[in-house]
Amino acid sequence: MSLGSILGHNCSPPVSQPDVLPRLSREYERKRGRRGLAVVGSSSNGSEPSSNGASPSSKGKGSASGKSLDERILSGEFTDQGSTKERITRPIRKALAKDPVGPGRNIALKLAKAGKEWKAAAAVRMPEARGDIREIIGQPVFVPLQKLATIYGKVFRLSFGPKSFVVVSDAEVARYMLMTNASNYTKGVLSEILDFVMGKGLIPADGDVWKARRRAIVPSLHRKYIENMVRMFGDSALHGVSSLQQAHQAGKSVEMENFFSRLTLDIIGKAVFNYDFDSLTHDDPVIQAVYTVLREAEYRSTYPLPYWNVPLFRLIVPRQRRCQEALKTINRTLDSLIAKSKRVFDEEDQEFGEDFLSDEDPSILHFLLAGGDEITSKQLRDDLMTMLIAGHETTAAVLTWTLHCLADRPDVLARLQQEVDTVVGDRTPALDDIKQLRLTTRVINEAMRLYPQPPVLIRRAVEDDVLGGFSVAAGSDIFISVWNIHRNAGYWSNADTFDPDRFPVDGPIPNEVTEVYNYLPFGGGRRKCIGDQFALFEAVVALAILLRRFEFRMAPNAPAVAMTTGATIHTSEGLLMDVVPRTTNGLNGTPILEELAMPERTPVTCPSNKTATLIP
Ligand code: HEM
Repeated sequence: MSLGSILGHNCSPPVSQPDVLPRLSREYERKRGRRGLAVVGSSSNGSEPSSNGASPSSKGKGSASGKSLDERILSGEFTDQGSTKERITRPIRKALAKDPVGPGRNIALKLAKAGKEWKAAAAVRMPEARGDIREIIGQPVFVPLQKLATIYGKVFRLSFGPKSFVVVSDAEVARYMLMTNASNYTKGVLSEILDFVMGKGLIPADGDVWKARRRAIVPSLHRKYIENMVRMFGDSALHGVSSLQQAHQAGKSVEMENFFSRLTLDIIGKAVFNYDFDSLTHDDPVIQAVYTVLREAEYRSTYPLPYWNVPLFRLIVPRQRRCQEALKTINRTLDSLIAKSKRVFDEEDQEFGEDFLSDEDPSILHFLLAGGDEITSKQLRDDLMTMLIAGHETTAAVLTWTLHCLADRPDVLARLQQEVDTVVGDRTPALDDIKQLRLTTRVINEAMRLYPQPPVLIRRAVEDDVLGGFSVAAGSDIFISVWNIHRNAGYWSNADTFDPDRFPVDGPIPNEVTEVYNYLPFGGGRRKCIGDQFALFEAVVALAILLRRFEFRMAPNAPAVAMTTGATIHTSEGLLMDVVPRTTNGLNGTPILEELAMPERTPVTCPSNKTATLIP
């Protein structure tokens, strides 16, 4: 969940392409024009990564005052004015100093001395950027934060109205917060916002609940499980191949962000609770419900008045009623999956051990049940919902932005395809193959540097602390801008350029340790992502399978690719591509993709009562 989820964003589910994939969120379609909150300034609505990794421009649409962010920064609007006392007394001191001999001159001298001290004291105060809430609308929030960090430095306070946040853009400070003094930081505002959907799940939970749940869940992702998942990634990606093939045969372009969102939803459903959403081929109320609550989480983070805390409003406001219904649908589904998994467990006679993997139900849920974990069904639902959300849009966003990066770099793409052709060819990649798909992995590593998901990590200080030499009071909300760290020219050469070769294929897979916290795609320290390996393997397998079989080209009528933030970095208008089967593999000239048998499809009706458009 990103800063966008807290301060605002243009929430953006996978962008539906009516002719190609079923629609996910009609509500979103209507709301697409809505502008969410951003932070400070007035850059364009959705920055434009039109060339690879290019630093998004912050110029563009004017602010309420009609000035661009650049102009406002230059005018000193966000510049800390030093000591307020010194500033207020300055004109008095100047006036008194005009008295050549009288008492005024003495007072002026005293004021000058005091002013010096006040200024010195103010010098160690954290730099502060001030904004107007009206200004903070309609852009990916991490973009102005990047600009402000170049002015205000590695740790600064961002204040607008009564709200104030500390923004951290420094690797060393991030390491301190995530690792050295991690116990001083909770998820703060993130837990408050996610409570209605994740409750005390692993992402928002703190303290003893977090400790206990992490201890219970991490072992479920053991090697045998991951091996099994890798096979499932392959099967799911092949299912996706068939959808893309159909789109091609129908002469349709494909909105790839939507495609990846569906693919990763199908995967995470099977991985976490052995449920086949099959969202690549149809929409159903459960899928709609998942997206309804995801979008609601984003909406709640942008809306200034938390009216949904009043029970009556939850009953009478239509979107809140829809959200309650969606939650009921999801809870019903989860309850029935939990019951089913329990039944399977009662009937199977497999011994539970540390690498337990049920033949019939190899899901995380089943591992947790078989492990005899004594938890309430509410806690179990919170855990499942957390993993569903954590593992879904993140991986979808990584795949989307990886493909976007590759679209501008045919040279890298050609090398990548050659690697895939050589290492796996038409086979489905197994765990051992993934180790050999080194360039494929580096391409994903680099895309995650340029487009970290989420771009900002959120924390709240439990006790007073000192960050980068500045005092931070207990209760302060803090954003670690991974985006800023990943694009810091002091840490990275050509920081805004997509360059997978910066991570040599014969070196280690980059992570926060190898890159000394300059690189945090999965966070770091004790709250590091538990699904890092799962997600990386999933992305490698999906990319290898797709790039072996297709060429992806921007569709001639594709809208420019721009960013907008939700829980992750979304595209503002989708990633519309022509997907053309590769006819030769570049090595022996043989056709790659056999004609695929088309499964029978019947139209389905979405909850909005509109007929969903099926593939294609
Ligand atoms: C490419 C995909 C993914 C990315 C980029 C990603 C990124 C992250 C990041 C940055 C964090 C740390 C958040 C923080 O410190 O505030 C995190 C935490 C977490 N992730 Fe992932 N994640 C991905 C996939 C997954 C998957 C597939 C799962 C589940 C199977 C998962 C489950 C979790 C959980 C449960 C946490 C919370 C851990 C804790 O607080 O103890 N993630 N993820």
